[in-house]
Amino acid sequence: MSNGVEREQWGSKLGFIMAAAGSAVGLGNIWKFPYITGQNGGAAFVIMYVALVFVIGYAVMMAEIVIGRKAELNAVGSFAKLKGGPWVLVGWMGIAAGFIILSFYGVIGGWCIKYILASFTGLMAAGAAGTAGDLFGGFITNAPQVIIYQLIFMLVTIWIVYKGIGEGIEKYCKVLMPGLFILLLILIVRSVTLPGAGKGLAFYLKPDFSKLNGGVFLAALGQAFFSLSLGMGCMVTYGSYLPKETSIPGAAAQVCFLDTAVAFLAGLVIFPAVFAFGLEPGAGPGLTFITLPNVFAQMPGGAMWSALFFLLLLVAAITSSISLLEVVCAYFIDEMNWSRAKAAWVMGLVIFALGVPSAISLGGGLKIAGKDFLDAADFLASNILLPLGGLFIALFVGWVWTDGAKKEITNEGTIPFGLMGPWLWICRVVAPLAIAWIFLKGLKW
Ligand code: PFF
Repeated sequence: MSNGVEREQWGSKLGFIMAAAGSAVGLGNIWKFPYITGQNGGAAFVIMYVALVFVIGYAVMMAEIVIGRKAELNAVGSFAKLKGGPWVLVGWMGIAAGFIILSFYGVIGGWCIKYILASFTGLMAAGAAGTAGDLFGGFITNAPQVIIYQLIFMLVTIWIVYKGIGEGIEKYCKVLMPGLFILLLILIVRSVTLPGAGKGLAFYLKPDFSKLNGGVFLAALGQAFFSLSLGMGCMVTYGSYLPKETSIPGAAAQVCFLDTAVAFLAGLVIFPAVFAFGLEPGAGPGLTFITLPNVFAQMPGGAMWSALFFLLLLVAAITSSISLLEVVCAYFIDEMNWSRAKAAWVMGLVIFALGVPSAISLGGGLKIAGKDFLDAADFLASNILLPLGGLFIALFVGWVWTDGAKKEITNEGTIPFGLMGPWLWICRVVAPLAIAWIFLKGLKW
């Protein structure tokens, strides 16, 4: 089960929160949340989303961390140790989701690198001339370029995971996350003061509940799991490095709050600008990359702001991509006795290769059942595997390993937990029923 090396731990509670928030806050918040909101009708979606985060997401996050901290193992090993039998499949499903998500995540991470450079070579001119969409289209259809940037992104991810928990993941997350937050605040001021911004604010903040349907619920659920890094054993894995004295409910609450705050702020940057420049809110994966150059072009020193923004987006993406790779690597390290170096390099490069179809899909029209390959991979992982994983994790804590979970979340009774009743009730009944219901209503391709 173990390769004889003592298991690493986070250096401090803050270190864990920063790493877990680093995992949660990523492309899902700034790239995906606005375009999914745009595709699903705006404010009504946002309300659904926030409700799902704080009821189901928070409960499942605590469940995952508790499982990992008790077992002190990767996603598969944790279920094997605490119960075994078919429950191990939940861990396996998580590892599979890790492969799929990181495969396309690396592609978008690569786009960020391209845009840092492009900020100084024509992106601002395109933004000013209203041709940012053409520039984006030209880039994503240039397959070799997209693949090279994806490779660079994956190499950075591999390198940090290879360096390990404290010296790699924790150190970088602690410094860089606060910078992103501050920059978002500056951009909000620019975006909401653009002429015509009000319509965007109304779209984003004034709910029209007639827009809700099964597909919207499923999109909100999938996005909640994706954004919080839930349903695939990521928080199990990160929890396995957590010291026993840390309060899990407190740490999980902070992570949920930070994650939601960043997504919400990103929407406040994007939507006023979308409407101010007469763009389409439902434009899909290109939304952030097409809208923001317009905003930057309107700011003094735009190229610098643009480069800084895409740099911080890149950092947010990397603190998430390392957590995705860590889920996979922890399995090979714990269960197969691989060295960290071997796990990081071999699996990182395999996942890079798996991402190539996504990288070329947006340009070449590589489609599965009418969706671009990248969108299809995202749909399968985010809207199916993650919610299913979350459903089983909730059931596991609610019905199967309940006493163990109760002891672990209070650290054998030494840490008070006022929400024990509601938490267990959500794990037992509310989360499983809600997820099953949303599946039934929303699962259409
Ligand atoms: N939460 C990340 C984001 O919002 O970009 C993506 C992610 C990371 C999903 C880790 C799942 C995961 F396990």
